[in-house]
Amino acid sequence: MTRRLAADSAGIAQAADILRGGGLVAFGTETVYGLGADATNAHAVARIFAAKQRPAFNPLISHFPDAASAFVHAHADARARRLAQRFWPGPLTLVLPRTADCAICDLAGAGLPSVAVRVPAGDVARALLAAAGVPVAAPSANPSGGVSPSRAEHVLDGLEGRIDAVLDSGPCAVGVESTIVDLTGPHPVLLRPGGIPIEALREICPDITLPHDSSDARPAAPGRLSSHYAPTLPVRLGAVSVAPDEALLAFGPELPGSSLTWNLSPGEKLEEAAARLFAGLRFLDMEGRRRGLRAIAVQPVPTHGLGAAIADRLSRAACPRT
Ligand code: TXA
Ligand code: MG
Repeated sequence: MTRRLAADSAGIAQAADILRGGGLVAFGTETVYGLGADATNAHAVARIFAAKQRPAFNPLISHFPDAASAFVHAHADARARRLAQRFWPGPLTLVLPRTADCAICDLAGAGLPSVAVRVPAGDVARALLAAAGVPVAAPSANPSGGVSPSRAEHVLDGLEGRIDAVLDSGPCAVGVESTIVDLTGPHPVLLRPGGIPIEALREICPDITLPHDSSDARPAAPGRLSSHYAPTLPVRLGAVSVAPDEALLAFGPELPGSSLTWNLSPGEKLEEAAARLFAGLRFLDMEGRRRGLRAIAVQPVPTHGLGAAIADRLSRAACPRT
C-alpha cells in the first residue's frame, strides 16, 4: 500500500520517519516529484532501483536542506560555492568530488568518485529533508524511461503499491528537472540542461562547456539513456502540419486539424511551457490512446532559456525505443 500524505507538519514528520526507517517516499520538488530514500542506506537505495526498474549503473542525485549539509559529503571549491550561493535552493545539481566524510553509499553514486548534490526549492521539500536529517537520494518518481511526474497523481499512476508513501505538495512549479553541472574537471561542464538556463549559469561560470560544442573529452554523463521521458505513442517533432489521427502538443498559435490538443503555452512563455510539458505528454498519450490516435505531433519550441531543457526532453521522448 502506498500512503498519500498531506504536506502538513504531521505528514512531513511521517514521511521523514519512513525515510529514516529505510522506506521510499515520493515528494514534490520545484522541478518534478522525486522518489526519495536514505542515500546512506544501500538497502533503501536498492529499493529505488527495484521500484523504478531502473538500470543500476545510473547514479542518483542526493538532496539536502541547505548547502552546508550538502558540502559535508561533496567537496565544494570556489566555483561550487558561488553557484550554490546564487542558485540554491533551486533547480541546479552539482557533480563534485566526494569528501573524506562522504556517507552517500556507493550504490547511490554508482561507484563513481563523484557525487551529485542539490538543494531543492520548496518549503515542503526542504522541511522534509531537514526532518529526515540524512542525504536523500531521489531520481524522478516514475518507472524508468517513462515521463517524469509533476503531480502526486502521476507518481501513483506509475508506482502505486511499489513505494511506501507520496507526500503531496501539489503541482511542481518548474516542471523540468534540474540543470546538472559537472565541476570535477578544470572547466564546468553542462551534463543536462534543466530548470536553470545556461545563460544564467554563464554569468557565474563564463567558461562552462556545452554538451555539443566542445572538442574536449567530455566526462560521461552516466544514465543519460537516449530514449527517456517516453510516452507509449510515438512522438513526432517539428510538426508544421498535423494529421487527423495525431494528437497535437502545441506552443503558441495551434496548427489546425487535430481533434486532441494540449497547448504548452498559448502566449509562447517558456516557463509556462516547461511547467506544463510532462503533464501534457501524459495527457496526450493517455487520451490519444483511448481515442485510437497514432502519434503525438509536436510544434517547434524556441531553444533559448528553459527552451533548451524542453528541447532535450522532447528529443528523448521522440527517440526510437531500444
Ligand atoms: O530535478 C531533478 O534533478 C530531479 C528531482 C527529483 O530532484 N531528479 C532527477 O534525478 O532528475 P534523475 O535520477 O532522474 O537524474 C539524475 C541524473 C542522471 O542523468 C545521472 O546520470 C546524473 O544525474 N548523475 C548523478 N550522479 C552523477 C555523477 N556522479 N556524475 C555524473 N552524472 C551524475
Ligand atoms: Mg528521470
